[in-house]
Amino acid sequence: MRRKTEGELTPAEIVAELDKYIIGQEKAKRAVAIALRNRYRRKNLPEDLRDEVAPKNIIMIGPTGVGKTEIARRLSHISGAPFIKVEATKYTEVGYVGRDVESMIRDLTNVAVNDVKKEMSEEVEEIAKQRAEEDLLDILLPPISFPRRKPDEPVDSTQVSAEERRKRTREKFREMLRRGEMEDKIVEIEVKQHKTQVLGMFAGMGLEDMDLNLSNVFGNLFPEKKKKKKVTVREARKILEEEEKDKLIDMDKVVKIAIERVEQMGIVFLDEIDKIAQKGSTHGPDVSREGVQRDILPIVEGSTVSTKYGAVRTHHILFIAAGAFHMSKPSDLIPELQGRFPIRVELSSLSTEDLEKILTQPKNALVKQYSALLETEGVKLDFKPEAIREIAEIATFVNSQTENIGARRLHTIMELLLEDISFNAPELKGQTIPITVEYVRDKLKDVLENKDLSKYIL
Ligand SMILES: Nc1ncnc2c1ncn2[C@@H]1O[C@H](COP(=O)(O)OP(=O)(O)OP(=O)(O)O)[C@@H](O)[C@H]1O
Ligand SMILES: [Mg+2]
Repeated sequence: MRRKTEGELTPAEIVAELDKYIIGQEKAKRAVAIALRNRYRRKNLPEDLRDEVAPKNIIMIGPTGVGKTEIARRLSHISGAPFIKVEATKYTEVGYVGRDVESMIRDLTNVAVNDVKKEMSEEVEEIAKQRAEEDLLDILLPPISFPRRKPDEPVDSTQVSAEERRKRTREKFREMLRRGEMEDKIVEIEVKQHKTQVLGMFAGMGLEDMDLNLSNVFGNLFPEKKKKKKVTVREARKILEEEEKDKLIDMDKVVKIAIERVEQMGIVFLDEIDKIAQKGSTHGPDVSREGVQRDILPIVEGSTVSTKYGAVRTHHILFIAAGAFHMSKPSDLIPELQGRFPIRVELSSLSTEDLEKILTQPKNALVKQYSALLETEGVKLDFKPEAIREIAEIATFVNSQTENIGARRLHTIMELLLEDISFNAPELKGQTIPITVEYVRDKLKDVLENKDLSKYIL
């Protein structure tokens, strides 16, 4: 299915899409839906006004395991715009060893370039296929090279008939190829060796982080290498198709469209932002956190980042930040950065009812996942509704007694609950196993009776 672009989805549709995976958290869903739609609205403004409208960056605040990152993951599928999710913790201040914050824009640009390239390659697919077929036929039946005929030399009739015969054979081969009769035949093809492979030896030097256009820098040092390779016709066709596609795609155009998209529609999801918030009077290794915030600031405010595809302006990129803010508060962020995230949404902790729904309703719900996994072994799980309720209640209980890790608790509980069945599944083939309240209580009784143990196991 083709992704709908963000303009095609109304806020209500975006929320509906998020609803398929995330239970509750209505406020956060609405906020991101509006932000996405606003970008589409902005795109339709007259140019002078368009430049004035800054994106309304969002900061999502909420306890651990209540769906912040999950919202980001789902957004990436429905936004239709260049999207990247990054952890704020993976960046270091400029000057220190590690990734600098500008690399998030370079990564976003890479995403966009790949997206556009993929779209274009779909457009040229048919032609590439036809050309690959011709290439394949050339390999299967190499062209005969005759000595060059001088202008007034008479045409050699044997040459003509040889040419004719070759044409006929070629057509015969074509038929066979199309009928799939040659798929396993081994042919020798020349493949281009990727520059990056050649450059692999430099990997240890951290060059990949420099993100320069290495093929330009080293282009003359390492001329394009061709390597002969023996492959099946099936594989050769794939390789040749890819090569033909590359030839057909106008990379300059790809880059131009991609950069335009990043600048106008790009979205950066900045996860774990709380982890770089300054807390109180912490010194030592933490001082560089504020440095990271200071480095992020110009990117969020709007600056120009150089990427291997060219300069990218960040003025209209939408930033959505998220963090649990356990140990720090949003007000611990440097004020300038706070000011760049005008929209704050709080995600609520999950109730037992929420957990119950999370177990069964989302498209990727745990109960669905486990059932499907065991079904592959011929074991059917029959979860009773009361048993689901019981699992949710136990999760709530353990969360309240130990650390509240939200819906993540369900993962650990389900794993424990189904451990025996998982282990014995191959012997249980053909059976339907009812998961009842009693079963749940029995399997989890150790957890319920002993708090310390629950800490240890879960
Ligand atoms: N509201 C929800 N609806 C459906 N599933 C949820 C919800 N909240 C959490 N989950 C599930 O729980 C797990 C953890 O959620 P998520 O990664 O979104 O946590 P988070 O809010 O980002 O927490 P943290 O602050 O620790 O990063 C995921 O597997 C997710 O599917
Ligand atoms: Mg998270």
